[in-house]
Amino acid sequence: MSVKNSRREFFGIAAATVASAGLFARRAIGRSAADVPALLGGTPVHKGSWPKWPEWRRTWEPSILEVLRSGQWYRGSGEQVPQFEVAYAKLLGAKRCLATASGTTALIVGMHVLDVDAGDEVIVSPFTFIASYNAILINKALPVLADTDPATLTMDPASIESRITERTRAVMPVHIYGMPCDMDPIMAVARKHRLAVIEDACQAWLADYKGSKCGTIGDLGCFSFQNSKHLPSGEGGAITGNSDELLDRASSFHDCGRPYGNFKGARPNFTRGGNFRMQHFQAAMLLQQFDKLLQDTARRCENADRLTASLREIPGIQPARLPENSRAVWHLYPFRYDADKFQGLPRDKFIRAMRAEGIPCSIGYQEQYFDGLLDEAINSRGYKRLFSAQRLKEYRDSFQELKGNREASATTVAMTQNLLLAEPADIDHIVEAIRKIQVHGAELAKA
Ligand SMILES: Cc1ncc(COP(=O)(O)O)c(C=O)c1O
Repeated sequence: MSVKNSRREFFGIAAATVASAGLFARRAIGRSAADVPALLGGTPVHKGSWPKWPEWRRTWEPSILEVLRSGQWYRGSGEQVPQFEVAYAKLLGAKRCLATASGTTALIVGMHVLDVDAGDEVIVSPFTFIASYNAILINKALPVLADTDPATLTMDPASIESRITERTRAVMPVHIYGMPCDMDPIMAVARKHRLAVIEDACQAWLADYKGSKCGTIGDLGCFSFQNSKHLPSGEGGAITGNSDELLDRASSFHDCGRPYGNFKGARPNFTRGGNFRMQHFQAAMLLQQFDKLLQDTARRCENADRLTASLREIPGIQPARLPENSRAVWHLYPFRYDADKFQGLPRDKFIRAMRAEGIPCSIGYQEQYFDGLLDEAINSRGYKRLFSAQRLKEYRDSFQELKGNREASATTVAMTQNLLLAEPADIDHIVEAIRKIQVHGAELAKA
């Protein structure tokens, strides 16, 4: 995840924290240590640890050993991957599921079978993990960036239509941090222009929009089971959908182009495809975790509701707005931070002060379209062949128009999902720490 700190940043902050604590310990004199920000020498609000992630259970071991001892480790033989596909489709209420090697490969395969081809355009949310952009680039299409609604941190449906060109083939909403996008207006604009919809639900297992699970609303949905995810197997992914034709094509493409179901491809031989298969070891791990996922999700939601109710009372802290009648599953829990309401304390210093109070948090996704990846793509020989110079210039210029995303990137603070698995009293520590920092904003700004 891009929100993790690099080692250098971590040690930089740690060193600065120690230095500040020493420098400002004097200020604690005469005040109760609990009232003084930990960064200024006071006592941290949260002294314990937070739940570790991932977690595993001894009861899972026999099923993994069974795969080992069977010698049937490859998807072409063995049972666990097909079993997982049936169970995961049922869990989400989708007709079909295809397990893949990762969330990225799920997106790559999904776009291929939705006929995203070289020189096409796909409208995607910019506020996402870079894999959403990369999956489009690997299909040699152009990731056209919709704007972000800073209040929801998801794709602003009103920003889609103006970005549609004759090359646009698909829209990729991203249910970022497990928060559902507002799918009704997204589906409406896509249907109006006959565009496919591929949901990036890689952070949104069991998130719900108006009674449907995220990943089952568009033409296809894609999930990740990488280590940090709520349903982890080290690596892994899935595509969900209700169209047998698309899922047959996806099964074929993900398995070197072997004919599958009603999709015969270049019968009787291979058609285009790659190896994007899941292993039975991964599926065996995933199959063990369904009950845990349901229980953890309920706990995260309860704790997130508790947190949101308290944070709403704090001036300058704005929890994310969700679409009506939807449920987020909180892969990260974000809020927007207004430094003006914290006596001018900049966001980076706020985060440092929170960490000193024992509350790990970080800035969310940044304006990564200025980081060079997209420049590298559009300056490549292939993209110059596929798109006119004028289109590529307009495309590059359009990054400047992403005002909503700029605001979202500049103001978000996010906490990882494991915090929401803690006890309610620990959740209250988050609120306490923010309130404490707010009182001392001016002092902390100088630290
Ligand atoms: C929003 C989003 N899309 C795609 C991916 C890619 O998934 P994977 O890491 O399993 O390839 C991730 C993974 O973090 C993600 O968060």
